[in-house]
Amino acid sequence: MAHAIEAEGLVKNYPGDVRALDGLSVTVGRGEILGLLGPNGAGKSTTVKILTTLVRPDAGAAAVAGHDVLRRPDRVRRVIGVVSQRSGADPEASGRDNLVLQGRLYGMGGAQARRRAAELLARFGLEDAAGRPAKTYSGGMRRRLDVALGLVHRPQVLFLDEPTTGLDPEARASMWAEIARLAGDDALAILLTTHYLEEADRLARRLAIVDRGRVVVEGTPDALKGELRGDAVHVEWREAPPEPRVREALDRLPGVREVVVDGPRLSARADDGAAAVPAVLAALDQAGVPAAAATVARPSLDDVYLRYAGRRFAHADGAGQAETAAAGGAR
Ligand SMILES: Nc1ncnc2c1ncn2[C@@H]1O[C@H](COP(=O)(O)OP(=O)(O)OP(=O)(O)O)[C@@H](O)[C@H]1O
Ligand SMILES: [Mg+2]
Repeated sequence: MAHAIEAEGLVKNYPGDVRALDGLSVTVGRGEILGLLGPNGAGKSTTVKILTTLVRPDAGAAAVAGHDVLRRPDRVRRVIGVVSQRSGADPEASGRDNLVLQGRLYGMGGAQARRRAAELLARFGLEDAAGRPAKTYSGGMRRRLDVALGLVHRPQVLFLDEPTTGLDPEARASMWAEIARLAGDDALAILLTTHYLEEADRLARRLAIVDRGRVVVEGTPDALKGELRGDAVHVEWREAPPEPRVREALDRLPGVREVVVDGPRLSARADDGAAAVPAVLAALDQAGVPAAAATVARPSLDDVYLRYAGRRFAHADGAGQAETAAAGGAR
């Protein structure tokens, strides 16, 4: 078996002329986290539903752990864990009872199910809350219980649909650490959907950016950003300098392009931003327009999205705007 997940040309139409998937293809290897990144309505959950045998595609083919999702859905279900976008835990039952019941559903004996539940409660830091109804859990605890429920039967392939949506930064960071561990120590293949650029950047070894039911580009986060060729260089003055003098100074510098002067600020792209900054500062000094500050920023996933989807991620998804801004500045 080549890949843990293989999907080729998936198409899914919904009534009312909605083309949820329009020829989507992805592969995920063992021990790999593939991040499916896209705005609301891009088709992420539909992809997960097809791969987890809950929805039939109109066209295309998919296999999970070597089993065809259309021909052998029973086998697929046995080897996958699913954490859907909406919590699957019974809110009235305790965390422990949720886990034991899940084990029994997968055919475990009572003692075995209780042992597995105890293991997972410990692993996910839910021991103290194990006896309380799930509805009393915080958002982060609830999501950890959801992931634990998906792991009861020791799946080979895990689907996480927006595992950290609505979590505070601390709960999100601890979920990231746990997910990374599942791919590392447990060698699970994980397909993770998210509309958080920062999450995709941190967690996914490989990213597939989905827009309007298709993968528009895929690769490692660094490779995708690297393809944009060049860093952003920003320069500031205390007062706006004469623009022609700035342009004349920078036009001659090799490796610096797309210079945009806007009052007391300038932005440009450079192949190697760190190397370009001293040259830029020296050229401005010589031209009699010395700068007050200069910074270099690596291209962000937002820049990648802009390039391939033709619009800013933030515009495609208003709800993700705050995260987008934070992620854009960080790397
Ligand atoms: N059962 C359904 N009936 C009709 N349309 C649907 C159904 N499920 C999904 N869609 C539509 O298909 C498209 C893709 O939806 P999907 O849930 O896969 O997006 P998503 O990427 O998961 O979005 P989100 O980030 O909001 O979860 C959307 O336009 C959605 O409205
Ligand atoms: Mg979704």
